Amino acid sequence: MTIISPSLLACDFLNIEPELNAFNGQNDLWFHLDIMDGHFVPNLTFGHPVVELITKKTTHKCDAHFMVTNPEFHAETMKSFGLYNFTFHLEATLDSLGLIKELKKNYPSVGISIKPCTPTHKLSDDILKAIDLVLVMSVEPGFGGQSFMPSSFDKIKELKSRRDSLKTHFEIQVDGGVSNKNSKELIEAGADNLVAGSYIFKNSREDYKKAVDSLRT
Ligand code: DX5
Ligand code: ZN
Repeated sequence: MTIISPSLLACDFLNIEPELNAFNGQNDLWFHLDIMDGHFVPNLTFGHPVVELITKKTTHKCDAHFMVTNPEFHAETMKSFGLYNFTFHLEATLDSLGLIKELKKNYPSVGISIKPCTPTHKLSDDILKAIDLVLVMSVEPGFGGQSFMPSSFDKIKELKSRRDSLKTHFEIQVDGGVSNKNSKELIEAGADNLVAGSYIFKNSREDYKKAVDSLRT
């Protein structure tokens, strides 16, 4: 089953608890937490207290997407928060393999993300063999509500084919501009996990589950 990851960037932060509870009972659902530092990307979002609060308030897996220049620092300082997946950007690190190894000690799942301008061949075979998840950014990271970039389809197909030839098993996640207009094609191309912010949270709360389900059909 395809995992759907609602991006909390688009939720109502003043009512975070009811927002999280609106997805109670839904299977194969992660909460996607976009952490931006104003350096790696121009925008700022939230940090430690908010991340900790969210992980404590839900039983769904929490998936943190770090758009920061210093993922090593956050890897250490957030290790007790109960995050399920920790994704950092390839472009933000000099020693991705070393960071993956460190993260594996404290997080059940470790992901690596590439921006739209970064080709998939920048991810070495060693990285693909070590990682649990590859996040293909289908918009320029930094803001919700942007248009999906169709060049992402080829990246997903390339990663799927390398996964097969390397006989390894990372998940392929896509983030940015995901809606029911492209979800079917994304799943057919090989995406296992779809992040969606505005497509889900533009609805009223009682319709969030319906929006999630519509991404799988
Ligand atoms: C963008 C973030 C995304 C964003 C997606 O930098 O990484 O997770 O919230 O938002 P939508 O689904 O609205 O494009
Ligand atoms: Zn994200």
